Amino acid sequence: MKEMPKLKIGKYESRYPVIQAGMGVRVGNAALTAAAIECGGMGVISSVGLGEDFHRSLKDYEIESEKNLSKEIRKARELTGGKGPLGVNIMVVLTNYESMIKTAVNEGIDFIISGAGLPLRLPEFAKDRVALVPVVSSARALELIVRTWQRKYKKAPDAAIIEGPLCGGHLAFTNEQLDNPKEYSLEILYRETKDVLDRYSLGGVPLIAAGAISVPEDVLKAIEWGYQGVQIGTRFICTEESGMSEEGKKLYVSSGSNDTVTISSPVGMPVRVIKSPLVERVLSGKKEPFACPYKCLRSCDKNKVLFCIARALLYAWKGNIDKGLFMTGYDLSRVNDIIPIKKFFDDLDKLARAESSSHQENRP
Ligand SMILES: Cc1cc2nc3c(=O)[nH]c(=O)nc-3n(C[C@H](O)[C@H](O)[C@H](O)COP(=O)(O)O)c2cc1C
Repeated sequence: MKEMPKLKIGKYESRYPVIQAGMGVRVGNAALTAAAIECGGMGVISSVGLGEDFHRSLKDYEIESEKNLSKEIRKARELTGGKGPLGVNIMVVLTNYESMIKTAVNEGIDFIISGAGLPLRLPEFAKDRVALVPVVSSARALELIVRTWQRKYKKAPDAAIIEGPLCGGHLAFTNEQLDNPKEYSLEILYRETKDVLDRYSLGGVPLIAAGAISVPEDVLKAIEWGYQGVQIGTRFICTEESGMSEEGKKLYVSSGSNDTVTISSPVGMPVRVIKSPLVERVLSGKKEPFACPYKCLRSCDKNKVLFCIARALLYAWKGNIDKGLFMTGYDLSRVNDIIPIKKFFDDLDKLARAESSSHQENRP
């Protein structure tokens, strides 16, 4: 590698090609996001489950969610002295999708990442100034978005996140596909999604790899495959700055990849989680007691699902190992310590410099 490339999304640029992944409920909060930006990456706040009072009635839930997202964006801007690039992650499956996008846009957000469903109407709710980044796991999904945005809005994505099957959180793969992750590797997905961009004359749109990017070597590998950047979730949960409870962080670093499992989520997709006591109960078909004062997910039927995901993620954030749901990437075996996020960026910088000087030496 000649030198570490910068990442550019629309008019927003970061020194390192690393996006700190949006992680709900309060894991990817202002503190983590600001720290990622300070280190030279891009920071992303997840819009879901912010604030103290989000679990009120339906009416209050929408208003509280708007207020809490505004607050978190302002906090991140304050912590960085207004620096960016600062983005939000807003999932299509949320019942307050449109209002969350409008809130982020009104707060002057730099870019919006949107997945967990196809963000076909995203350009309708956002202003031109804001860079728009869909999340996909297949060339087919990317093509559908590109075609629809071009036809309806004369707009191209400013970048696309490509989530592979080893990714953390919700997975846009069937259980059968998840049993054969090599067939859908990030390397293969790069070629297929790049082909879509080329066919639509959008070759310059950056593609960003997500899933099991845990050490600096993974970042360089993704760049070698052709990606312009990476998005990192699980490694950044286990940082001093992340919003996850201390008990939760300890659970992540003491677990390995064999301690993870995919279960079906109230979101309507498989979700990869640590085998916690709650997960064992869900796997044995037991229903957790819960009330649903608001409906946060379009896809959730409170009479059918075995647990409330918002509540379980809130328990994880609070450090309740028994009742918490700990979403994770597959690559836990390589996440063994809690670090300041700066250490990851410093190590990446060192590795990139070493690679670049060996490239110079090997030049004919
Ligand atoms: C705890 C956790 C919460 C997440 N929350 C969200 C979310 O709110 N919205 C979303 O689109 N993706 C979410 N994700 C997926 C991440 O944005 C990211 O793409 C993924 O974690 C990358 O894989 P890795 O964890 O192996 O690095 C979440 C992932 C984790 C582990």
